Formats: sequence, structure tokens, C-alpha cells
Amino acid sequence: MSKPLPKSAYLSGNFAPWLMEGEVHDPVVIGEIPRELAGAYYRNGSNPQFAPGPNYHWFTGDGMIHAFHIEDGRCRYRNRWVRTPRFEVEREAGKALFSGLGPSEPDPRIEGVSGNSSNTNVLWHAGKLLSYWEAGPPYEIDPATLETIGLWDYHGAFHRERMGNVVPDTMTAHPKIDPDTDECLGFGYSPMAPNLVYHVVDADGRLTRSDEIEVPYPCMMHDFVASSEHVLFPVLPAVFNFEKMADTGFPVAWEPERGSQLGVMPRGGGSDDVVWFETDPCFSFHYVNAVSHGSEFVVDYWRLDSLGLVPTERIAGGPPTLHRWTFDVAKGTVKDEALDDAPAEFGRIDPRRAGKEYRDVYSLGTLAIPQSEGEPQFFNSLFHYDMKSGSRRDHRLREGDTFGEPIFVPRTPDAKEGDGFVLAIAHRAAENRSDLLILDAQDIAADPLATVQLPHRIPYGFHGNWRPAG
Ligand SMILES: [Fe+2]
Repeated sequence: MSKPLPKSAYLSGNFAPWLMEGEVHDPVVIGEIPRELAGAYYRNGSNPQFAPGPNYHWFTGDGMIHAFHIEDGRCRYRNRWVRTPRFEVEREAGKALFSGLGPSEPDPRIEGVSGNSSNTNVLWHAGKLLSYWEAGPPYEIDPATLETIGLWDYHGAFHRERMGNVVPDTMTAHPKIDPDTDECLGFGYSPMAPNLVYHVVDADGRLTRSDEIEVPYPCMMHDFVASSEHVLFPVLPAVFNFEKMADTGFPVAWEPERGSQLGVMPRGGGSDDVVWFETDPCFSFHYVNAVSHGSEFVVDYWRLDSLGLVPTERIAGGPPTLHRWTFDVAKGTVKDEALDDAPAEFGRIDPRRAGKEYRDVYSLGTLAIPQSEGEPQFFNSLFHYDMKSGSRRDHRLREGDTFGEPIFVPRTPDAKEGDGFVLAIAHRAAENRSDLLILDAQDIAADPLATVQLPHRIPYGFHGNWRPAG
């Protein structure tokens, strides 16, 4: 780090970047790692290599991937930055050249260099480990060494003409894998036409669809969701607005008067087949799952009353909570209901139930603590929602400790839903260190089956996934 970190909530405590790359060959393990667990857990997050420029936001740091390779009851840890052109040009300069969210004077050294920091998600598909950002293409990563192999363009097909130039296309950081076909469904969004493109990648990594979808207005779309029958394009009022950018320095404005416009497309349909439903303004960063029964389409999601990102925005409402939209696609109606009132987000399911009837959701949650202990640490708990019974169980950490996004790993490929393990990274505040917790998915309140202790901390990050061995 050439300069000290500037003062920022997103550079303090466990948000601060971890500046070393390395390996812990045999970390201390408390308990027993289940022998059925064989594979690797990869997690991506924002980790700026240099003291950032102005307007730093957690969303804008360089991607760093952390990997836990697990086999025969043993675990090996490794971490590396994703070597994007942005990372390399800043390493050459020995300082940050890109700014965060907001106004800045661009440095001439980054002219023509993509801002893709590849920091948001990491997912195994079609025999490749891919690191995702939401406004560009993914990067291919070596699954063993975490070396960056390069930009992944889906066998040369991932380009699009925008404003007269052919440029790399964009892929969401939240693609969805169809558990029956192993297809990868995704989309790209852009302030420049076309504003939304629906992508389908087959099990061999080839683009089979890349279709433009007409939208009511161009918006920021972080995630989407699909059932076996329908796809939801959530056009929420985080609107691209370059006129307001002069005031806010931010290309997205919160315009609740536009309402939420929810586009439901049959999986086999196209832009002309999208049915649009207008409903109350809200924002959602993440969707849990969706299921269709005939013309009924049910979507579970984390609801916010506003975006909360725009510098001049008055933030409305509280933290995200679990909600459900039920669409009657034939009648053209949608209703919204709250499923729980506890603050929660980053919900994950058994990946074999994606787009289907499902029961188990594992998420981050915030539980109140006795008043005498002060304000609760955000995401001090893991939640297990039973969507059939409506019940919720939890695993609360010690005071000051914090969980990162959980993932679910089935015990065996054909184990029943929810029979398996929940993996999550926990930050231990008192020791300023991180552990990987391996929990019994059917009894998350119990002590972990195993705790893998790292000698250092892993900064708060975004998303990750499991790659089974073999
Ligand atoms: Fe996300």
C-alpha cells in the first residue's frame, strides 16, 4: 500500500483489504471435517490493492478469491487477486488510478482500460471456474492455483455493438444454473442500448441465446431469478439518469415514482412475450428462488424500500427482509407478502432445487442482543428458513463476530433436499481472524461439525460457490 487508507467505513475493521496472497497448507481444524465433503469452496470479494481514490465504495475494489480445498477430512486454503487489466495498470503505476462511485477526474493512464474489477462472484460452470462482475464479461480462473487465465468470451461469441463500436458484452454476477440441463441463465444490463440482454449458456459453455429484451426504463439490475417455466426481469426504480449525474456524480438515480416494473417471460419466449407487472417501488439486490405452477409464478426475494446507494438519496425503510411475490401470469396480477420481519439477506438454497419447489433457505441474519451489550453487530447470525412450515432457526455467533454468505453443499449427489452441510466464513472480532464453519444443514443451531481456523482474517466479501471434486 503506497499510502495509508483514507477514512471510510468501507476501509475500516474487517472491510479493510487483506494485502497478502498465499496458502495455508494445514490450518488448525477444531472438530471433524465430514468425509463426504470433497471439493472446493471459492468466495470472491472487493479487496483494493492500493489506497483507493475518491468516492471509494465497497462495490468498487479489486476482486480477491479465497479458496478452501477440502478432501479426506483435510482443508487447504489459498487466496489470490483476480488479475484484471485494471489491477495490472494500477500495479504498474504503484497506486490507485480508478475512482469509486461518484465524480472524479479520470487519470490518462486508464484511458481504454475497463473498470471490470471482477469482484462479485465465483462459480464453476462448463468445466471452468469463472469470476464475475456485473458490468462486463467474466474472467477464467485456474481452479487449483487461482491464477487468472483471462477474459472468458464463451468461445468467441460474447461481443455486442454499442454506439457503433463492438465491445465485450456484459454478464450478471448472479447467473442461475438449471439443475436439470446444466444450462447457465444470465443477463447483461447497460445504460446504453440495448439496455437488457438475456443470455443462455449451454453445459459446454456455448451461448445458445443472447436476446435483447425491451424494458420500460434502463435500470441497475444486480440479480434476477428463473423457475423451470418463467424468468423474472426485475426493473426496479434505480434508473440510469445522466442528467441527475451532474448533481450526484452517480449514474443511477432513485425514482420511486416510476414504480417497480416486473417483467415475466416464459423460458422459451422472447422480448415480445414478456408480461409486465407494475407494483410498489422497492429495491432488491438478491432473489432466493422461484417456482411455477401453471400460470402462477412465485418469487422469494429480499426486499428494501429504497436503493440506498445514491449519495443524495434519502434512504427509506429499514434493512432487507424476506418477501414473496405471487404472480398470476394469466390474470396479470401480482401480490407481495412479507414472510419474515427479521433483517436478513444473502439467502442460498440447495442448488439442486433452483427453479423448483423447495424447502430450505440459508441466509445471513441479524438478531437482537440484550440492550446492555449495545447495538447488534449486523449479520451476527445464520438463519435456516423452513419454507414449508414457515419456521426459522438460527446460529448466533459470539458478540462482535460476523458471518459471511453461507452456501449449502449436499451430503451426496442424490441426498434429499437439505441433507448436507452449510459452509460460511466467520470473522472473529476479538482475534481479528477468520474461521470457516462447517455446520450440519439440518441442525444449524448446534456447534459446528468443524471449524477451520485461519491465521489471518478474510475481509467481508460478496458471493461464492462450491465445486464438487471429480
Ligand atoms: Fe450480489
